[in-house]
Formats: sequence, C-alpha cells, structure tokens
Amino acid sequence: MPAPDLSSSTRYPELDEPPITPREGLDFGLDGDIPRHWFGGDAFKTRFFDAMSVLFPEGERFFIACVCDYRSQVTDPAQRQALIDFSKQEAQHSKVHLTFNTRLAGQGIKVDRIMANQRKFLFDLARTRLSKAHTLALTAASEHLTALMADSFVEQTHQFADADARVRAMYVWHAIEEVEHKGVAFDVMQQIAKVGYWLRIWALIEVSIQFPFFVFQIMSHMLRVDGFSRLQRWGIWLKGLYWLYGPGGLMGPVIKPYLTWYKPGFHPWQSGMVPSFKKWSDTMRQSGDPIKASNALYISN
Ligand SMILES: [Fe+2]
Ligand SMILES: [Fe+2]
Repeated sequence: MPAPDLSSSTRYPELDEPPITPREGLDFGLDGDIPRHWFGGDAFKTRFFDAMSVLFPEGERFFIACVCDYRSQVTDPAQRQALIDFSKQEAQHSKVHLTFNTRLAGQGIKVDRIMANQRKFLFDLARTRLSKAHTLALTAASEHLTALMADSFVEQTHQFADADARVRAMYVWHAIEEVEHKGVAFDVMQQIAKVGYWLRIWALIEVSIQFPFFVFQIMSHMLRVDGFSRLQRWGIWLKGLYWLYGPGGLMGPVIKPYLTWYKPGFHPWQSGMVPSFKKWSDTMRQSGDPIKASNALYISN
C-alpha cells in the first residue's frame, strides 16, 4: 500500500478514506424499554460497553479541546474542514452517550461522580500540567485505540448478534464515525504540532494503561450496583476476561493493528476501511435509520 502524502491535505482517496460526515439528530430509540443487561443478558459484556459510554462524553470533550488547541495554525482548507467535522462528530457522540448514560444513572450507577473525577483528571490535571503537544499525542493515541476497536468490533458481527438492536446501533454509528475521522488528530499531531516519535509512543503506552484501568474500575462499581455477590462477581470477571482476551476473544483481532502505531512510518489510513463501513453507509443513506443500518451488518451473518 502506498505511503500517504501528508503534504497538503488530509484526504487519501487511494486508501479508501471516506469523507467525514457529521450526522445529527439520529434516533436510536434509547428512551425505549431497554433491558438492564442489554448485551444478551450478559452482565460483563453489557457493563464493559456501559463503562466506556460513561467515559465518552468528557473524553470526547477533551479530544476536541486538545485538537482545537492547534486550530489557528491549520491553514489548509481541507484540514480545517476535517477539524470542524471531527469536532461535530465528537460533540454528537458526547450528546448521545449522555442520553444513554441517564439510563445508567437511573439504575444507581454513580455517573455524575465518575464524570466529575474524570473531569478533574483530564482538565484540571492533564490539560494544566502537560504540554499541548503531549495532550494532543494522548488524543491521537486514544483515537488510534477507538478506531481500531471500532474496526474490529464492527467486523466481528458474531460477537454482537444478541445485543439489543438499539444500543448496538448507537455503538455501530459511533464506531463508523470514529473510523471516518481516525486521521484528524494524528495529522494535526504530525503536521502542525510536529510531535516526535518517542512522545507518540509514550502517549499510546499511557493510554493503554489508563483506559482499561478506568473501564475496569467503573465496571467493578457497576457490577456491585447490579447486586452480584462477591463470589458471583469473581465468576463474572473470570468468564468476561476470557471473552475479552482469551482465544477467539473480542480483543484478539485488535492486537496486530494496535502494534502498527509503534512503527516509525505509521499513519491511521494505512489500514484503510473495513467492508462493513460500505454496507452501513449505503443503508444509512437509503433509510436514514441508524438501527436499520446497523442491522444490515447482521443479516447475512
Ligand atoms: Fe467519538
Ligand atoms: Fe474520535
């Protein structure tokens, strides 16, 4: 695959890069009667995704702020537009996950407390103590993680066959848009902030430790709120971690693309676009219905 030309634009049509399309006002039916354990009745799988949902609104606000630190230095019109569309997409993700998270708060999950702690960590600590280049590198590294998880999760349709169609549709939409804008923070980091190789590497190491730590900590709280005994929780964790990291597990296909970040000539669009994207975007264009578009990925599987 040819190396992308980073000189003038963020567009690499030869790598199947789609346009970044902000989609607003989508209806996922999140006000409906969604079961507490919406992922096939499985507490671990449900709470794994719920924990990420709690982290998204503040996390995405942080990403927008860190990329926009460099907005005034971006002169290329295509890159400026990419920055605007990236911010619009992330703002929509925050909004929809906030709506979903009110359901979690209603279940007794301490959503406000978790978000307040996260705000302190990201905005009072990271954004005041670290350089702008460092927080941008953390953003680009987080975007690498979300994009490769998005790619992999959307392709592993068998894993999500028994998830609630409405919540699944929210995650598939989020995943698709994460892939659409996966090059934005990276390009600003490389072309504008001129972040060097070692800071880029260090940023992914930091994010790779922090992200699972926070997710598992929140899950632990959620499973206690669910009323499981200590013994039951042990069983849920053992089975769940095997589902995540065991042979054939959800994270298996993520490992190889994860490591590509550490190659000196890495660029997010070297991995192109997964086939599910076209199926989803075609159905979405025709129907305007994100649930239909998400279900389209599961019909032939
Ligand atoms: Fe997002
Ligand atoms: Fe993103």
